[in-house]
Amino acid sequence: MAFDCLVRGGVLADGTRADIGIVGDRIAAIAPDLPAEAGEIVDAGGHLVSPPFVDVHFHMDATLSYGLPRINRSGTLLEGIALWGELKPHLTHEAVAERAMAYIDWAVSMGLLAVRTHVDVCDDRLLAVEALLDVKKRVAPWFDLQLVAFPQDGYYRSPGAVANLERALDLGVEVVGGIPHGERTMEDGRRSMTALCEIAARRGLMVDIHCDETDDPLSRHIEQLVYETQRLGLGGRVAGSHLTSMHSMDNYYVSKLIPLMAEAGVAAVPNPLINIMLQGRHDTYPKRRGMTRVPEMLKAGVTVAFGQDCVLDPWYSLGTADMLDVAFMGLHVAQMSSPADMRRCYDLVTETPARIMGLAGYGLAVGATASLVVLQANDPVDALRLRANRLAVVAKGRLVSTTPPRTATLRLPGRPAAVDRRFTPPTP
Ligand code: FE2
Repeated sequence: MAFDCLVRGGVLADGTRADIGIVGDRIAAIAPDLPAEAGEIVDAGGHLVSPPFVDVHFHMDATLSYGLPRINRSGTLLEGIALWGELKPHLTHEAVAERAMAYIDWAVSMGLLAVRTHVDVCDDRLLAVEALLDVKKRVAPWFDLQLVAFPQDGYYRSPGAVANLERALDLGVEVVGGIPHGERTMEDGRRSMTALCEIAARRGLMVDIHCDETDDPLSRHIEQLVYETQRLGLGGRVAGSHLTSMHSMDNYYVSKLIPLMAEAGVAAVPNPLINIMLQGRHDTYPKRRGMTRVPEMLKAGVTVAFGQDCVLDPWYSLGTADMLDVAFMGLHVAQMSSPADMRRCYDLVTETPARIMGLAGYGLAVGATASLVVLQANDPVDALRLRANRLAVVAKGRLVSTTPPRTATLRLPGRPAAVDRRFTPPTP
């Protein structure tokens, strides 16, 4: 037997046809016409074979809680936080773990095989932290879950959060989180950036901050995050999530800020679905849409990834664990419509978030972890347009999910019997 698993007849993102041979949890060969001797054969049938989707910003402790104890009537970030506060005392270890496991099943079926989740550390019981650490262990053979210690109610504003955050890190949480715009004053927000980055430097950890998630053009905690990243030598290990205030900032100020982010090595993680749903709620028309300046940051060399943030929770009433939905929305809001820009948006939900998370062995290469998704599409842009069906998902060497092809049967005279809406550009 040449391989444990063989993905046969797929098309890679660059258009080349290739088989992918897998031994154990590693890719052993990528070439056309590999010997068809394998424990399991996945027939890709000329469809796109891609590295798996990665979501670098999510809230696994809140997901699938929509309606508990009530829904968010104003649709604002602040009511969502208040609602989560109402729900928190009623959480149980089992319920958090069960909802997370159910969400991970959805994710796997969508080819989403790695998630960085924030976990609220403001509850002294640290119940959600323990539940998600259990889930992380349980799913490790097929799914990468990375946890961020997130003081949802404020690092300084929430009593106990300073100690709880360190306790969560002691338990094995890997990333330091924060929410400077949620502190009582701008000055407390600024101080929290210094303290949290110092904790990360001392412990050798990564940082991911909910940063400036407001429509306030003067919310500028990203500046302090960039400064601390540079001062403490944390470049490449720090992400600023949301950065929605940058949408509303003065243009001159942003022209100085973005190069500073690039220079310091601070990544940006906008969450398009949530940002345009929650921001601008205090505006009349014209309404700001609240997504940060993605094309401008990419142009300046800032690392950018799109995150999903929420699915069916106090902040967002929709979602299916589909990172193509996320990129599709991001592409529209950022007006990234050229072929090269659309192709880049695909990277923003695959390779770039994998890099921010520090996922070892990610990608389709010999020696890499054998995780991939077969999409019912011709290429990455086609996949985005279709929010393509996931025909097969392989995780760490094992076929873990299959979905029947999405094909309509036509009953029209003189027309093809089947359509799947894939698109090949016409030759001139
Ligand atoms: Fe978030």
